[in-house]
Amino acid sequence: MQLKYKIMVDPLIIRQDFPIFRHHPNLAYLDNAATMQKPETVIQGVANFYRKENANIHRGVYQLAIEATEKYERVRHRAASLIGAPSTKNIVYTSGTTAGINLVVQSFLEKRLSKDDEVLITAMEHHANLIPWQMVCKKTGAQLVVIPMNERGELDMDAFKERLSGRTKMVAAVHISNTLGSINPVEDIVDLAHKRGVPVLIDGAQSVAHYPIDVKEMDCDFFVFSGHKVFGPTGVGILYGKEEHLSSMAPVFFGGDMIREVSFEDTIFAEHPQKFEAGTTNIAGIIGLGYAMMFLQQYNKKQIVKYLDELGGYARQELKSVKSLKIVGKAKRKSPIISFHFKNIHPHDVATFLGAENIAIRAGHHCTQPLMDIFDIPGTSRASFTFYNTFEEVDRMVKVLKEMKKFLS
Ligand code: ALA
Repeated sequence: MQLKYKIMVDPLIIRQDFPIFRHHPNLAYLDNAATMQKPETVIQGVANFYRKENANIHRGVYQLAIEATEKYERVRHRAASLIGAPSTKNIVYTSGTTAGINLVVQSFLEKRLSKDDEVLITAMEHHANLIPWQMVCKKTGAQLVVIPMNERGELDMDAFKERLSGRTKMVAAVHISNTLGSINPVEDIVDLAHKRGVPVLIDGAQSVAHYPIDVKEMDCDFFVFSGHKVFGPTGVGILYGKEEHLSSMAPVFFGGDMIREVSFEDTIFAEHPQKFEAGTTNIAGIIGLGYAMMFLQQYNKKQIVKYLDELGGYARQELKSVKSLKIVGKAKRKSPIISFHFKNIHPHDVATFLGAENIAIRAGHHCTQPLMDIFDIPGTSRASFTFYNTFEEVDRMVKVLKEMKKFLS
């Protein structure tokens, strides 16, 4: 499909699509790794569904229900085209990244895992891509093995090669660290794992909004992301899986809309993806996600990346001018997610100072406690940018941080 891009990534024009900035004209929203703001089309899409189009899907034969079903199913095409999936059969609707990973753990991995097997994850995983694997390892007696990184926050690929073995049954890796901003070499990870016949799940929660994704090229077995981190609603997400995996996986949630035939004695399930989508799902949320992906696809990802490289580079450089501020995460390939800390100031105090000036950042462990342990810090302050953010917002943040330092000394 030939897409027509808006000519330029211009944050001042893009911001006009986001009502939140009209309601909070002075807001510098630098917490995009936590959740992104929503464009008007997404808000309208969800509201209009409830206002004018609401009906359950896959059930009714009246016009409203048929149209709701068609609209809901069209989002699968949009998701497939956004990440380069071969077919809508590869696209499972979930409630988010966490749910997608849990589904793969329970439905795909658990039955293949036994004592003495190993699951490899990276040192920079979000808890969502750590705890589910940890739990299944505990249950089966398998080992969770961690791929280490250097002090810049780059994966140690030699260690990865060493730790990949005949015992490895799965590799799960984050594409972009939500805490360090490191962009991991996912193609190499997949390639190395596949040479040993090991399947790979990639957590794309922080990458899909900004970076070109082609799951066919990446050749990962599973890829997960959340709606709310691609300008869409919360409570929805996408699990991509290769055909051969999804077709052989059993559902883990049972109920309505995932069956072909039911008797008191037995049930024949629907095919994938439906067999994984029991009950009435977040229909309006999925439709909202469709509008979010439509919004995103107006822009050329190369231009987004170029703009964010410049903005992120500028922010990192300006932050260096704040006395005793330390940036955590200095990988060569990085996204505009910047964690920093001060020796004697708690990250929450930093965020509170900035918050008082209408600058929103996140502070804490960012759901990566083991990563904080590696750096031996309780947490960081984190500014995370997207393409509605401006250089002027960086200046504001840096100015307040300098004032804070002065005030506290
Ligand atoms: N995972 C989200 C973050 O990094 C919530 O803030």
